[in-house]
Amino acid sequence: MSTQTPWWKKAVFYQIYPRSYSDSTNNGIGDLRGIIQKIENNYLPKLGINAIWLSPIYPSPQEDFGYDISDFMSINPEYGTMRDFDELLEQAHDNNLKIILDMVLNHTSHRHPWFIESRSSRTSPKRDWYIWQKGKGTNVKKPPNNWKAIMGGSAWERDEETEEYYLHQFLPCQPDLNWRNLEVKEMMFDSMKFWLDKGVDGFRLDIIHTVFEDVEFRDNPRSFHLFSSHSHLDSLLQKPTYTQFQKETIDLCLELRSLVDEYTPERVLVGEATGGPKFLSPLYGNQKQLGLNLVFDFQFTNQSFSAKKFQNSILDSQSTLNHFWPCFTFSNHDIVRMISRFGNNRQKARLLTLLLLTIKGTPFIYQGEEIGMLQGKIGNKQVKDPVGKLKVWGLPVGRFFGRDGCRTPFQWNSSTINAGFSPDPMVIPWLPISSNIQEINVELQHQSKKSMLNFYKELLHIRQETVWLQEGDLEVLDLQSDQCLAYSRTMDTDHGVIILNFQKGPLNVINPILESSLIFSTHTLTQTKVITEVVSLEPFEGVILQKK
Ligand code: NOJ
Repeated sequence: MSTQTPWWKKAVFYQIYPRSYSDSTNNGIGDLRGIIQKIENNYLPKLGINAIWLSPIYPSPQEDFGYDISDFMSINPEYGTMRDFDELLEQAHDNNLKIILDMVLNHTSHRHPWFIESRSSRTSPKRDWYIWQKGKGTNVKKPPNNWKAIMGGSAWERDEETEEYYLHQFLPCQPDLNWRNLEVKEMMFDSMKFWLDKGVDGFRLDIIHTVFEDVEFRDNPRSFHLFSSHSHLDSLLQKPTYTQFQKETIDLCLELRSLVDEYTPERVLVGEATGGPKFLSPLYGNQKQLGLNLVFDFQFTNQSFSAKKFQNSILDSQSTLNHFWPCFTFSNHDIVRMISRFGNNRQKARLLTLLLLTIKGTPFIYQGEEIGMLQGKIGNKQVKDPVGKLKVWGLPVGRFFGRDGCRTPFQWNSSTINAGFSPDPMVIPWLPISSNIQEINVELQHQSKKSMLNFYKELLHIRQETVWLQEGDLEVLDLQSDQCLAYSRTMDTDHGVIILNFQKGPLNVINPILESSLIFSTHTLTQTKVITEVVSLEPFEGVILQKK
């Protein structure tokens, strides 16, 4: 690669979930000015990230906390005004930070004026903007087919007034748009152009694999699988043959890329879809035409702590995506925080962060990971997430999948009960603050060299300074130990090796590059350590060696 390498291949993205980041108005809800403050006080510019992904900031009844949009071209008044947004974008750009927005193309809120109009009558001019079907059976009260919603239950909801069913691949409050209707397509493209014209640097595309469904509404085949994995998409005893990754969805990705490629400077599209690399690869496009720039590979989000398994994921991604650029993450606003998945073990979290930030691909980190925020504990009465409230046969199964725990307010300091989330110390935030704010907060960690925050900052700094870590080719190395994951990164004559010890005891391995210096260790950060023919690693230690 050269200086022409696109920015999004080299960048580290940081996800902000605005509702839980920083509240400037004392209503217990994070907002845009709260984020601006974190640019102004240099927290974000000094972190070492290059781009921010903002979860949805548009008007919304907040039944799915912004993923149920009721106006694609405005700002949710709870979060601020368009002027605040413009200022945020300008300040971010002035500080060399890109901003990408979340774009939900699959559905709107059921309270979007388009849907209100669409459901008002069968002859509404917007009826065809959503996917309506007659029910089955003699009294037409059975869903049109067997399609299941991602969160379980039928993907069809009956509208009693007009006696037809509408499709919702996610929750009933999120009716699917009909992308075969050209007016819908035009409106959604206009919405994206609106933000691109303002200068946003791209979009994260919510559940992009579900945008189109089979035009003939054929039943999905049965399956034995309850949950999808990277090797198959089947879930809830069904194969999503007619509801996911349809040919038109792939074509749409190509068209979306053509749209953003009209803009300079270059913009980025990051797709969210389920499944391993073989399913994700078509969304990237083909030899003739490019599709999405990046697609999240979620393999790491449900991986056990095993060197071999991580190695296999990396190899799978390399061989399947070929010349397309991978995109990895450990956590986001839907997933149990990575550190908590591994028993709140800080050393393991550091090791895996070193992995994320040194393998080939664009890494996404989630707000709070940089201070080691743990998964929050949410009492039964505190549940806010609609998924957390789901019941099956009256049983509160949603409690096992609820996403509030990874969305608890950001912990800025320990001087007030709201951890500095709101300026007024008496304000109670929308979700409970974790009880560990005394040990886990930005203010405290700023002062300690050994903190998670300083670990992140030093590692991010090294990555920014070291071009081969951003762009180099990756080759997995065999260092004769099952508990060790090692790989080299090479770019022209620059070369280095990353060695990760996954075992809870020390480990000695042969140094693969003798003429090397240690440039980073998860345990000692950038302090120097003598490197000999044998590299001695502490339990869960990871190191970066650079060829001299
Ligand atoms: C994926 C988003 O990440 C999640 O938060 C949301 O609930 C669903 N898509 C539906 O939009």
